Amino acid sequence: MDLTTIKAHLAGIPIPEIRFFNSITSTNDFALAWAETNAPDMALIIADEQTAGRGRFSRRWLTPPGAALAFSLVIRPSTSEQTCLPLFSPFTGLVISLAIEEITQLKPQLKYPNDILLAGKKCAGILVEAAWQGNQLKAAVIGAGVNVMHHSTPPPGEVLFPATSLEEETGFPLQREELLATILRHFFSWRSRLGTDEFMAAWDQRLAFRGKTVSISLPSGMILSGTVQGIDQEGALLLQLNSGDIRRITIGDVHLRPS
Ligand code: BTN
Repeated sequence: MDLTTIKAHLAGIPIPEIRFFNSITSTNDFALAWAETNAPDMALIIADEQTAGRGRFSRRWLTPPGAALAFSLVIRPSTSEQTCLPLFSPFTGLVISLAIEEITQLKPQLKYPNDILLAGKKCAGILVEAAWQGNQLKAAVIGAGVNVMHHSTPPPGEVLFPATSLEEETGFPLQREELLATILRHFFSWRSRLGTDEFMAAWDQRLAFRGKTVSISLPSGMILSGTVQGIDQEGALLLQLNSGDIRRITIGDVHLRPS
């Protein structure tokens, strides 16, 4: 992976600035620091290797050299986007799924709120972080990691949820730069639909565990068990509890497991 090849693949996609690193601690860390200064909307940071990649809940995210797609985007959200900021996570899950579908013809599913699954195993994750100045949102940083080659999949002992890679599921080699370009094309094409009914329907259509019983640990430590019904108009997960009541789970810090 190198900057020239990346730029060749991104020709025609309006990315204003790109920073490429053979090795970096975390593309999200670089993006957050850059967001504090002059990073424009849709500035892209991409690395072949991350030595301190981060996942949600401060977990480690492995990005060994030559194996995965790891990138971050700096977003300067418009006023209307600021009203639905948490939706950028599932939004990125959706556009990555669309890109995987386009390239592999496989049908990824979205584990609420934003993990991407193939054959019931995680192949990509998203970490959205915000840069604030007082009450004012300066930027959102969207970080995404996709397990592309076989050796990008973390060892089973390292992960709570089973993992896989695109190559493992397709059986053929894939080019990371092509995947990146396809993701970014979908990102641009869908961005104006963030929060719309069309976006919710596309997300709902790909929702994993529909009709299945799952356990959800809430930030309070409480564990809820119920059957997944779908996504509502505000992006909350609808869970039918054993009592028959429907409980809305909002994006927050949801930690969902099949029971
Ligand atoms: C998760 O599933 O917990 C989220 C994983 C997010 C990983 C990506 S890789 C690029 C960016 N840089 C990081 O340090 N993390 C995100």
